[in-house]
Amino acid sequence: MMHLRGWLLVAGVLSGILFFGWHATHAASSPKPLSSFDPQVKPILAQMTLDEKIGQMTQPDQENIADPADVATYYLGSVLSGGSSDPKEGNSLEAWTNLYDRMQKQSLKTRLKIPILYGVDAVHGHNNVLGAVIFPHNIGMGATRNAALVEKAARITAEEIRATGIQWTFAPGVMVPQDVRWGRTYEGFSDHPELVRELGAAAVRGFQGSDLSNPLSVLACAKHYVGDGGTTFGSAKTGLDQGDTRVGEATLRRIHMQGYLSAIKAGVGTIMPSYSSWNGVKCSASKRLLTEILKQELGFQGFLISDYDAIDQITPNFKEGIGISINAGMDMVMVPRKYKQFIANLKGLVQEGAVPMSRIDDAVTRILRVKAAMGLLDPNRSQLADRNLQRTFGSAEHRAVARQAVRESLVLLKNQGKVLPLKRSARVFVAGKSADDLGNQCGGWTIDWQGKSGNITSGGTTLLAAIRKNAANVGFSADGKGAEGAAVGVVVIGEKPYAEMMGDRKELSLAPEDIAAVENVKAAGIPVVVVLYSGRPMTLNPIFGKADAIVAAWLPGTEGEGITDVLFGAYKPKGRLSYNWEKQFAFGFGM
Ligand code: GLC
Repeated sequence: MMHLRGWLLVAGVLSGILFFGWHATHAASSPKPLSSFDPQVKPILAQMTLDEKIGQMTQPDQENIADPADVATYYLGSVLSGGSSDPKEGNSLEAWTNLYDRMQKQSLKTRLKIPILYGVDAVHGHNNVLGAVIFPHNIGMGATRNAALVEKAARITAEEIRATGIQWTFAPGVMVPQDVRWGRTYEGFSDHPELVRELGAAAVRGFQGSDLSNPLSVLACAKHYVGDGGTTFGSAKTGLDQGDTRVGEATLRRIHMQGYLSAIKAGVGTIMPSYSSWNGVKCSASKRLLTEILKQELGFQGFLISDYDAIDQITPNFKEGIGISINAGMDMVMVPRKYKQFIANLKGLVQEGAVPMSRIDDAVTRILRVKAAMGLLDPNRSQLADRNLQRTFGSAEHRAVARQAVRESLVLLKNQGKVLPLKRSARVFVAGKSADDLGNQCGGWTIDWQGKSGNITSGGTTLLAAIRKNAANVGFSADGKGAEGAAVGVVVIGEKPYAEMMGDRKELSLAPEDIAAVENVKAAGIPVVVVLYSGRPMTLNPIFGKADAIVAAWLPGTEGEGITDVLFGAYKPKGRLSYNWEKQFAFGFGM
């Protein structure tokens, strides 16, 4: 009979094993704090000249670097490709990989051989590269409520990004859009902060993995800090985008800060301050936001990257704006064209004492910490693209995950008379401008900054093509005429692609050709299924009564078969609205 002491000993040993087991697992899953790389960084910083330090803080756009040798001449820390800044040889996987290598080779010619970080907006796949798998935009990922799937999508995106050598994506967007008339609503997971908090962190984990030095990991960037989705209608030239968020600090924290809290906890390496303002002060100029809250209170140890030319918006005087933003806490500046002027101006500000060297050293320490964590400072590691990774680029396995994401993102708004699921044996008449349009299916930030209609990339499946794979007898007309005799009509309508600055609207009515297409199919006297591609809730009342079924498909990306999985009953739709649709009544428009 074991004595009590013996049982206590066993219990103690067991709990110890359980604790260390748990700790080992979680310790392995949460990345090392970036400040743990300071012992490796400090000696490098100590060797650096002012030119080398300021170079690390400078990020031009590749399309404005006339001579790649500038990467070495100016000791550049980073290069980006903005939304439409593609290789001059075109958008192929090869062209992108060659562009990355061309730039990286230059950095290795510098005295300290500090590699560049190359940044792109891979916000729903490696979306500017032909043949990449394009996932649903965040509004659709939000409707899945599936954090594990968001993480997996980000992981696959990271792998396809690394296939081009590129190591940094300006994602995830963790905005919490409060007015869906904003043209960037679809870049957000939801208007509910808690969902953004959960899915934003999942995306960071997917991009960065548990170890930033993993060759399949990419550096993530939570954006746009903070309150970009809370601007007041009319406070911006276009209505909302880059406007003014007029709320108290408690509301800003409760609604708009949540994605940053969880992203920092997940170890996000970079954060991008927003173009927008908070109560009239530009986020990129706010010491309260950038230093006091983000770095001091929340303990963010990575670095801040400004938005594209955001410094220019602070004051008419470029040099003055640089000083304000760097002193507020900006660490690296996305200065797409004026990088030589930026470098000269910042050097002057330091020499005049307007920007203390301590601020420069803090910024460069933060940048080098991230590079150290990513293995970029390891002299024994090649920093050029690993083209072996291209084997899985655009692969069937990757597409299968994107197809799952599409399935789970669809929200069934109406299914009167159980017209869904469709029968494979039935004659299906397909209509609508977006039925056979991959560009409309993917939305903005795809191949081009604003996206574009048409057959924009390879490897994808339009909804019409997907329906043709499921039903033997399929008719089609974009305008919906000729549907007579079919068993059912499927009308694919919605928004044409747009991105930032171009998507704000006063109201969200459907295009006349969309309403006409629905009416033409209805006039054939057959049941009507509407599939809506949109970056936000739209005003559906002109067609709501005419449709027997309505599926909100958001901006699903390349894998159209994820939609037919639902339409033909292979998958029961369970997506839930990530934005309050009924809230539109508050703006005088609604279903
Ligand atoms: C853009 C966007 C930002 C993007 C950056 C680089 O203006 O606001 O989301 O990451 O510039 O393209």
